[in-house]
Amino acid sequence: MAEGLFAGERDAIANAANLSGLLWMGLEGLNWAGFYFLRGPGLVLGPFQGRPACVRIELGRGVCGTAAAERRTVIVPDVAEFPGHIACDAASRSELVVPLIGGGRLLGVLDLDSPDVGRFDAEDARGIETLAALWTAASGPV
Ligand code: SME
Repeated sequence: MAEGLFAGERDAIANAANLSGLLWMGLEGLNWAGFYFLRGPGLVLGPFQGRPACVRIELGRGVCGTAAAERRTVIVPDVAEFPGHIACDAASRSELVVPLIGGGRLLGVLDLDSPDVGRFDAEDARGIETLAALWTAASGPV
């Protein structure tokens, strides 16, 4: 489905916007779905669905900054137990963040938030990693 969404389109922002819309429409129990891109030394908010969010996140800070700095997928079943979680929306209780890697370089992260504790499992992580890789492969420079 996402292949069709990106077909023939290389614009990274347009593809990110449509992927955030696809995730928002297709997954139950989300209160935020979207992108942060690496801009210089930190992450900056990209296309998303949900409430307005924190614009800038330092590498290593919060769930997004941790996934970016360590270049690994992070599942947080309960944000209350993740030291340094950045509460953009107090309703968020669990989170899944996948790093975006293109050509061996960190491009940003794809972040999903849920108001439900334990919303995301390893299968969700694999699915979102696959979609993130499709976005990276389809898109030109961010
Ligand atoms: N909670 C995230 C910040 C981003 S927003 O939730 C959209 C974090 O701790 O990195």
